[in-house]
Amino acid sequence: MCGIVGCILDKTAAPTILKSIRKLEYRGYDSVGIATVTDTINLKKGIGKIDEVDDEIHLDDIDGKVGIAHVRWATHGNPTEDNAHPHNDCNNKISVVHNGIIENYKQLKDELISEGHMFKSETDTEVIPHLLEKYLDEGKSFLEAMQSTVKRLKGSYSIAAISTEEPDKIVGARNESPLIIGVSDHGNYLASDVPAILNETNQIIYLEDKEIIQLTKDKVEVMDYELNIVPKEITTITWDSEMAEKGGYDHFMIKEIYEEPQVIKDTLSEADKVHEIVKKFKKFDRIYFVACGTSYHASLVGEYLIESQIGIPTEVILASEFEYFQKTLDDHTLVIFLTQSGETADTIKALKIAKQKSETLAIVNVVGSSITREADHVIYTRAGPEISVAATKTYISQLVCIYLLVGYLGENQEILTKLEEVPEYAEELLDSENQIEQIAKKYKDSKDFFYIGRGFNYPTALEGALKLKEITYIHGEGYPAGELKHGPLALIDKNIPVVGILPPGSSYMKTYNNLEEIRARGADMIILGASDDKMIFDIEDKILFDPDIDEILAPLLYIIALQLLAYFISVEKGIDPDKPKNLAKSVTVE
Ligand code: F6R
Repeated sequence: MCGIVGCILDKTAAPTILKSIRKLEYRGYDSVGIATVTDTINLKKGIGKIDEVDDEIHLDDIDGKVGIAHVRWATHGNPTEDNAHPHNDCNNKISVVHNGIIENYKQLKDELISEGHMFKSETDTEVIPHLLEKYLDEGKSFLEAMQSTVKRLKGSYSIAAISTEEPDKIVGARNESPLIIGVSDHGNYLASDVPAILNETNQIIYLEDKEIIQLTKDKVEVMDYELNIVPKEITTITWDSEMAEKGGYDHFMIKEIYEEPQVIKDTLSEADKVHEIVKKFKKFDRIYFVACGTSYHASLVGEYLIESQIGIPTEVILASEFEYFQKTLDDHTLVIFLTQSGETADTIKALKIAKQKSETLAIVNVVGSSITREADHVIYTRAGPEISVAATKTYISQLVCIYLLVGYLGENQEILTKLEEVPEYAEELLDSENQIEQIAKKYKDSKDFFYIGRGFNYPTALEGALKLKEITYIHGEGYPAGELKHGPLALIDKNIPVVGILPPGSSYMKTYNNLEEIRARGADMIILGASDDKMIFDIEDKILFDPDIDEILAPLLYIIALQLLAYFISVEKGIDPDKPKNLAKSVTVE
């Protein structure tokens, strides 16, 4: 996820562009850059947060009434100044900002290099200004050059470009990455998201995939890829600016939960890279996962999957406990580190220990973070920045990476094929939001919860309970379904809701029986199960899933319901779920 803006005004544009891009900092804070066009391209960019870069190089101190800007959440290439957007062509007559991933950039880059183009960055984006240059040099107009360029691109993109050849306009395009236009009588705007330009105008045009745009100060044109004009409606936005930053949602957490179907798709697009890394592994006969908190729970799903589907002995160790296991490391052990931030001190320390003897793989969301510089191999999850302190979409993206890893390590095509269906199931589940909200209202005053699941779904129980603890301050305990009878059953009575995770599969009957034992003790039951499960028809509080989601896939989907349950209880209790007390987004102390 990155953020882009652009505007064409009747006054110097840079101060307005800077104000707008600040509103998109939630989309990425690895670097920021701005470019305007006069008789030349004027460009300023730097790494770090907007304030840091602005203090140093004064981003708004550039001439020109037409300009673009970008905040970067690194995907291809570390957060360096060369990799920061905007990117120019060879002769600095074109400047481009881009959000998305150009999947075929390597082929395009090779082709352009063979034609004499010189590249300065490691980004996928840089092929775009060079393609535009190529087509402008062939005599096409700027708009036609954009048309020819987008026809060559595979992947997701929202693009804005300026050029000294036609300095009175911005051309752009959208495919699978967000882009909107803002219209006003003092100029026109484009942005990844409405909050960027809401202080300037509330007259918005929403673009669809495979649309090209051309903006001048007085005119906005939206076209298809054949440059036929597409008629567009202007929507008047009535949200305030803070609501808009959260995409109209009340909190970042719920926004991030709603991003999960897209995050699953984005992380699945890393499949080839995961496959390449799996091919590079040395010989190993044992796997350790090392992680903390939510990442630890994702690792546990990995352990169940690898042991049951591939048969490689696997163990998950909390990063803060890892040093006590170091004598067991050897060169036949693969150690996998899961961390969304890539900055967790416990995990970094464990990696430093592990890499002395074993091959290491890091699965990380933040490109260029400390962990990525230490590990032998890195797989990036594609969740984008997560603002809410409690991990939601990053957990899902870690799970997707683990399923891909298991699919390629075990050469299990069935898992890889099934994964393709998961985004759709996730969308369906989000439709049951209202029902989950009702359950939250009913149980918000409970003092304790139990979450139980078996096998692949025991980690889901742990993660559901962690979400509850973090953002509602209610005590929640996750247990393997079969373990309650060995002690904790003594605690069960009618005041304790028990959340039972009961997907179809070989563990179903045993888990069902465990739930019956609990029910017989008078506990309130909240059951997550298949919509065609007749055995649970008399349970009042149910969250139902498509019956095709069996126990193996369930960790990817059932947790979404538990994230929503915790979220709604938190809201009912008047807590701000985005900022739970005593917690921080990345934990950089041991
Ligand atoms: C829970 C949560 C924490 C983190 C843990 C590890 O919602 O966010 O438990 O999972 O602090 O953080 P990372 O994954 O950044 O290493």
